[in-house]
Amino acid sequence: MSKKRHEELKKLISHHNHLYHSLDRPEISDYEFDQLFQELLKLEAENPDLERADSPSRRVGGEVLDSFQKMNHRKPMLSLSNTYSPDEIREFDERVRKFLRTEKPVEYFCEPKFDGLALELVYEQGRLTHAITRGDGTTGEDVLSNVITIPTIPLVLHNPKPPKLLEVRGEVLIFKKDFLAINEAQQEAGAQTFANPRNAAAGSVRQLDSKIAASRPLRFLAYALGEVDGVEFKSQEEAEETLYQWGLPVAREHKKKQLRQIRTGADEIVEYYHWIESVRHELPFDIDGVVIKVNSFRLQDDLGLVARSPRWAAAAKYAPEQGETVIEAIQVQVGRTGALTPVAIMRPVKVGGVTITNATLHNQEEIDRKDVRVGDTVVIQRAGDVIPEVVRVVTEKRPAKSKPFHMPENCPVCGEKTEKPEEEVVTRCVNPFCPAILKESLKHFAARRAMNIDKVGDKIIEAFVDAGLIKSFSDFYRLKKSDVLELERQGEKSADNIIASIEKSKKTTLARLIFALGIRFVGEQTAKSLADHFGSLEKFLSASDEDLVSIPDIGPKVASSITHWLAQKRLVKEARALLDLGVQFEKPKRAEGGKLSGLSFVVTGTLPVKRDEAHDLIEAHGGKLLSSVSSKLNYLVVGEEAGSKLEKAEKLGVKILDWDGLKALIET
Ligand code: IVH
Repeated sequence: MSKKRHEELKKLISHHNHLYHSLDRPEISDYEFDQLFQELLKLEAENPDLERADSPSRRVGGEVLDSFQKMNHRKPMLSLSNTYSPDEIREFDERVRKFLRTEKPVEYFCEPKFDGLALELVYEQGRLTHAITRGDGTTGEDVLSNVITIPTIPLVLHNPKPPKLLEVRGEVLIFKKDFLAINEAQQEAGAQTFANPRNAAAGSVRQLDSKIAASRPLRFLAYALGEVDGVEFKSQEEAEETLYQWGLPVAREHKKKQLRQIRTGADEIVEYYHWIESVRHELPFDIDGVVIKVNSFRLQDDLGLVARSPRWAAAAKYAPEQGETVIEAIQVQVGRTGALTPVAIMRPVKVGGVTITNATLHNQEEIDRKDVRVGDTVVIQRAGDVIPEVVRVVTEKRPAKSKPFHMPENCPVCGEKTEKPEEEVVTRCVNPFCPAILKESLKHFAARRAMNIDKVGDKIIEAFVDAGLIKSFSDFYRLKKSDVLELERQGEKSADNIIASIEKSKKTTLARLIFALGIRFVGEQTAKSLADHFGSLEKFLSASDEDLVSIPDIGPKVASSITHWLAQKRLVKEARALLDLGVQFEKPKRAEGGKLSGLSFVVTGTLPVKRDEAHDLIEAHGGKLLSSVSSKLNYLVVGEEAGSKLEKAEKLGVKILDWDGLKALIET
């Protein structure tokens, strides 16, 4: 019995993983997904002999290694020859035709050149057994413990029956939007931010602690084969299509147009090169060019290699979007955790259509590595298409008397001595009363994802601190309308709004409050785990180090940061004061006795609102969401382009509603 349920759960969870991570089209709520996952973990804990090679439970990470095993590639991982212009692309095509002694146009398979980290996945009898970094092309490192945490990489290949051996090559990436989110989270946790998605991906894949890799939104896109035994392909196109069928992610569509295309002859590949360049910034991931491959594997064999590059493929790169400008000053900013960040203030310059005026220089180590100085002319670019970064100094243009930059010994805001522990890269202000730290902490406290005091923006918080009206979190809840009116440019109406918004923020959840406290390394997710575990603020405030490390999601570093925070009486008192001033916790929403209570729902197809919104609406009225259609289901809510679920529901005679029907059910 448990075996059958286990097989069912593995399939169900993998299916929802795929919908969520690959298709961006979840069909169940996060809550429901968690329930399934917990059930799986429990089942596996109770039945050690269940088959877990293909179990999604392996994806949470947990293995910590001393080092990675070195491993040889069965076939060397080659590099590509680069071209940089339409003329050079034409020359590549000419070389190919000359070698093949043909006048006829050649068929090419074209796809974007992903800017990540090359990786080889080894599947033996359909099971993922190794994941080897490129290394020097001959020998890499087996980073399997991290790679199994990448949700879109199948642990076991799907049907059609996979071959005895399949080596798949591709690129590990972080999508642009995910990159911005991790950097935000890193910043909030007081940890180092990454310069670009490529670095973030590479850094994550090389973590010895697989939990860290598991926490990073890594992706994989396949584009080539290594050694293969037990199957034959005629062309690149056929190979990639089959990889996709086996469940491996490949580049697909952009705005309903296939990114991977067959193009015949030089004109068509040049046209492809221009097309991708024009949509480059809209793609969800960074690319640095396109790769053009002779499609036929027979012709690829005929063409062979020159040195370490195939004669049958070329990278056609885009000129990086860079600009040159002058650093006018290096300003040092103080963050919420007291971290000092040097920021280059530059003469405004346009790069890729956006005017850039400043760029973070990260820390002293980075500044030393690039030797960036005030007055320097620098080359800058937008990392991950978004964040401006200093690429290098044009030393020939350096002014004669320039001096290396050093982080200040005193905090630029409060003037107290800064600290930089030997083993860290970050210089910090450790004065708990530093106004900069206070301002940043208050901004975090009031932020949308924390206490959500929506009418109190950064400028107002700064004004409150400067006026001496707010010195701590709890002071928000001591403010009176007359206090707000003391600030410049605050009228009656906006003062009312501010007070109302503060009042409204008192109704929150324990998780939000814990997150709002701004404890180092405690991001939103950790705050949720803490809230779930302790259930009350008081229990959390009196937690011991042992309590904390016993929580599955919390490692020693986070635990020690929390213990350190809890040891500061002033901070704990401040947290308790919030409750005295009326902050209270709502139970996570689940309406009892609502219009939909006792009824179950599945939502499918495209509705006039976001899927999440529909789910929230159903749950808010007491309805229960299920993941799949069965005869026990009460209602299937359908939008446009509903597929197999609708068919199944019709077969089983499940009641079907459209969006208006659902609303009518709630409103009548
Ligand atoms: S095909 C020669 N296709 O580019 C091996 N490579 O400079 C055939 N890359 O190491 C590679 N996107 O890391 C191929 N769509 C793509 C690619 C791609 C990125 C990388 C890959 C390779 C490097 C060669």
